[in-house]
Amino acid sequence: MPVITNIEDLRRIYEKRTPRMFYDYAESGSWTEQTFRENVSDFRHIRLKQRVAVDMSGRSTASQMIGQDVSMPVALAPVGLTGMQSADGEIKAARAAEAFGVPFTLSTMSICSIEDVAEHTTKPFWFQVYTLKDDDFMRRLIERARAARCSAIVVTVDLQVLGQRHKDLKNGLSAPPKLTPKSIANMMTKIPWGLEMLGTKRRFFGNIVGHAKGVTDPSSLSTWTAEAFDISLDWARIAQLKDWWGGKLIVKGIMDPEDARRAVEIGADAIIVSNHGGRQLDGAVSSIRMLPAIMDAVGDKVEVHLDSGIRSGQDVLKALALGARGTFIGRAFTYGLGAMGQAGVTKALEIIHKELDITMALCGETNVRNLGPQNLYVPKGFGDPTVLL
Ligand code: GLV
Repeated sequence: MPVITNIEDLRRIYEKRTPRMFYDYAESGSWTEQTFRENVSDFRHIRLKQRVAVDMSGRSTASQMIGQDVSMPVALAPVGLTGMQSADGEIKAARAAEAFGVPFTLSTMSICSIEDVAEHTTKPFWFQVYTLKDDDFMRRLIERARAARCSAIVVTVDLQVLGQRHKDLKNGLSAPPKLTPKSIANMMTKIPWGLEMLGTKRRFFGNIVGHAKGVTDPSSLSTWTAEAFDISLDWARIAQLKDWWGGKLIVKGIMDPEDARRAVEIGADAIIVSNHGGRQLDGAVSSIRMLPAIMDAVGDKVEVHLDSGIRSGQDVLKALALGARGTFIGRAFTYGLGAMGQAGVTKALEIIHKELDITMALCGETNVRNLGPQNLYVPKGFGDPTVLL
């Protein structure tokens, strides 16, 4: 096993171990993938201020997200099909997050069900909600999250229709994978993955199969999003979900100050500045470039979180210093999971924690809560997406 020192090392191992169909699913953006790429590269425009001769003892990365203690403000983002990256992947990721002291968010599109994850963890997790047309299903989904003692729901508002990811169509993405000459030939080269997968019965969309009506092929993400998703989702519907749930609610997918204000109006506890990891509107601005405008609009009214593009602790630090109270990692933990299972998710968290802690120290800060504009050089026009950088 090579020495693993950063998230990119995990990605390389993950790419070798995991069937191409699922690697491509995670490692894709929609259409030209411009937004997918810029989510990552735009972080590089922000530089850090080096400060010296500051007592660096007693450092802390501990903080809170929506009032819950976190060992660092980095939650695991909801990622569909996580249980196809590694057998029982959602359970493994949730357990790693719990041990590390950061929130785990289970996707509606997960393989392990809400009940599976609840059964294998001891602390409450967060549940990401997609709104389906079937009201009955939605009410039951919310009740299932309540019964599982989830401590927040994360309502994703940027996916009534699916942005096209070319590779998923070409690979015939499905869970479980359909057996074609191409998929079989590829899986023959992923024997450890296959053996683990044969050892679990969790190979279907666990929250959907057997629960939702009106889906002709529940193994295909694109079929059931097209058939079952509530295309009419609007702010009134989000407010209704909030009523049904009655607990903490995070709105995910905000990229516009006006939308941020609407989320505040319906009483969201937090919003996530997110373009869905570049998987939906290709050509959208990177999340990190939208953060300043969203902070100006609602930063004093609601907790602002950020996802899309975070691959390091330095990226986390930059988002926090621009005002975010929390961040989410999706691909970064998926790489670890696909590379090494639960230990790989722990490794990803350790890498990001170490990068955050050491970088914070080199910026002359000892507490993650004190990060701010004093730690950054932000190019003029960075927060104005009409300016070319
Ligand atoms: C689902 O959320 C996806 O982006 O595939």
